Amino acid sequence: MPDNTATQASAQHNIPHAMSAPHRVPKERYYDREFFELEKTRLWPRTWQMACRLQEIPKPNDYVEYEICDQSILVVRQADHGIKAFFNVCPHRATQLAMGAGSFPGGQVTCPFHGWRWNANGTSSFIYGAEGFAPECLRDEDIALRECRVEVWGDAVWINMDANARPLAEQLQPAAGRLEDVAIGNWRVKWWQETILNANWKMAQEAFMEGWHVMRTHPQLTLGAGEASPAGSLRYDTYPNGHCSFEGGSLDTDFHSFDVMLASSQLLADGLDAMAIERDMRVLESVRHKIGPDDTIRAAVAREMRAYNEGAGIPMPAGIEQQSLWWNGMVFLFPNIFYLPMYGNSLAYRIRPYNDDPEWCRFEVWSLTTWPESYPEERAVLRGRFDKDDTDNWPLIPIQDFSNIERQQRGLHVQGYQGHRLAVDWEAGIENMHRELDKRLARA
Ligand code: FES
Ligand SMILES: [Fe+2]
Repeated sequence: MPDNTATQASAQHNIPHAMSAPHRVPKERYYDREFFELEKTRLWPRTWQMACRLQEIPKPNDYVEYEICDQSILVVRQADHGIKAFFNVCPHRATQLAMGAGSFPGGQVTCPFHGWRWNANGTSSFIYGAEGFAPECLRDEDIALRECRVEVWGDAVWINMDANARPLAEQLQPAAGRLEDVAIGNWRVKWWQETILNANWKMAQEAFMEGWHVMRTHPQLTLGAGEASPAGSLRYDTYPNGHCSFEGGSLDTDFHSFDVMLASSQLLADGLDAMAIERDMRVLESVRHKIGPDDTIRAAVAREMRAYNEGAGIPMPAGIEQQSLWWNGMVFLFPNIFYLPMYGNSLAYRIRPYNDDPEWCRFEVWSLTTWPESYPEERAVLRGRFDKDDTDNWPLIPIQDFSNIERQQRGLHVQGYQGHRLAVDWEAGIENMHRELDKRLARA
């Protein structure tokens, strides 16, 4: 249950539009400039956030720029394969040193303006025109690139601009363990692309914190269940630190039928190329003839998936049957990352504010999968930025989700709208996220 500490703290610190009434979210939190500025000064610079996947910087001197609001961080692979992160600015006259992703030739970061250079570890290696500067302007410690906190978890690099931040593991607990159980560290990028949405970053991500919109938004996925109770068999959990999850059923309940399980997986393979992928479909189809008289479908699927993966050299965590509970579920890690694990694969989302505007966000989607161990490590590259209605480049399921989000953002401004009213259990994750946000914003 959410506690009321945040309410007290936010009242004390006079946070605008704080969470107060249970199950209600003030609408201004999604567009108010003052609220957005508070997020910019008290949330983003002080929270751990996923800056890139390790696979984006596989080799020494590879870099990725991570942007959040008006801040820019360079994440750089070191010669010893470790990772460092630097604030992306030249100490001479503020030029940003690198953009996007790439590799620093010869391990030298070179400012494009006057050509000052740094080693990939951030130490200064060359100052063009040094003789023209007063020595006190060129002290080593001032000229070195300023480091940003960095940690690695879940095959990804996390940064925190706050030098005094608690360790990443503390922020991620206890939800991170749920992803470690499904071997998050084994997942690699199958595809990755993004869109820009005319909606607040929180509005966009809340569309994925509950599963009961499926009935109306993704009718093809209900496979005839129609308007059966939205409670379904999903279990919703909230955690300290703002995280939440939902997952399906219990091991005592079997899938409705083999055909429904197969058809829903096929929809994911065809309509998303994520969670269930072509490789899994071949295994699943073969299960039909291997369900013994004392078997459950769930157990037979788990057994065949395990056998296939072992044969193919694809590392899977123990307890694949237990994992099947995630096959309708997701884990949200505060402030802005989602994972939807299935069959050793996962869909993942990251949502960030865009263009210093509370009413726009940048929404990235990854299809992650577990490759055979022998597979060569390839650099992961963003496939592109595609319009949210681009049916050539977005599968049906995300298009359906995106279609509601901008309508919600516009709806916020319509006269008479009183703010969100949340379902007690199914939407508790949304409330939990906002209450954690208030705690963060209350810290002066
Ligand atoms: S601004 Fe970077 S070297 Fe001058
Ligand atoms: Fe959805």
